[in-house]
Amino acid sequence: MNSSPIGIFDSGVGGLTVASAVKRLLPEESVVYFGDTAHLPYGDKSPEAILHYSKKITDFLLNNDCKIILAACNTVSATVWEELSGYTEGKSIPVNVIDPVVSRITELYPGSRYGIIGTKNTVGSNAYPEKIKKIDPAAEVFSMATPLLVPMIEEGFVNDDISDAIIKTYLSREHLRGIQTLVLGCTHYPIIREQIAAFYGHEVKVIDSALIVAGHIRSILESGGQAGKGRPAIDRFFVSDHTEYFSKIAGIFFKEKITIEKVDLWK
Ligand code: DGL
Repeated sequence: MNSSPIGIFDSGVGGLTVASAVKRLLPEESVVYFGDTAHLPYGDKSPEAILHYSKKITDFLLNNDCKIILAACNTVSATVWEELSGYTEGKSIPVNVIDPVVSRITELYPGSRYGIIGTKNTVGSNAYPEKIKKIDPAAEVFSMATPLLVPMIEEGFVNDDISDAIIKTYLSREHLRGIQTLVLGCTHYPIIREQIAAFYGHEVKVIDSALIVAGHIRSILESGGQAGKGRPAIDRFFVSDHTEYFSKIAGIFFKEKITIEKVDLWK
């Protein structure tokens, strides 16, 4: 048994989709969440900048005694994972959001024709096609960067005409024609998952990482005897800059009233 918290971070609200799935599956675990809203978006930053931000956040989560550090951000998981996991290893268990998803979907949908959407960095890294094809060479993978979606979501354009038009413009492109499975390769996108599924008339399987990654964390904790049972869970939420939308989304995902604390890790 280990009642230390699970550390989860992202550039902004996106990782809250994973954090809420973790809480749903593991209500007895405490979570420390960090949203790097001051440096958002990560999707077009250099790998050096992303690594620099991620290491600072990792230090913060380690200082909070986190037993697992989950990069709930595809951009971090795709671009700087090797360096970052080496940095965390030995002090806490590093988890990314790409590997658990790839192992699950290749098991469920062998030989599928996949579409992957994500930030410019995630798509440019080729992480998804390489990892999927390594396990399932018969799969076909078509990736496309959809860089407007993160700022759109962070600005609160969700379930409205503007977001419908942007989603339609991206997903109608020739490149994604005929896909059977669409992987939401960005943890922000589950927030618009229903709009995406509706665009396809619910005929394409839309995969998001939240529950898959939460299930992966549960099996790590259970197999390592590290589950945090026996104490009331205490969740804490930190941001590097206060934004109205972060509070709003956090309020939607975590129904009980939560406090959002601002910390400056870079001063
Ligand atoms: N939610 C993130 C991801 O999964 C970050 C997006 C961004 O900051 O550009 O990639």
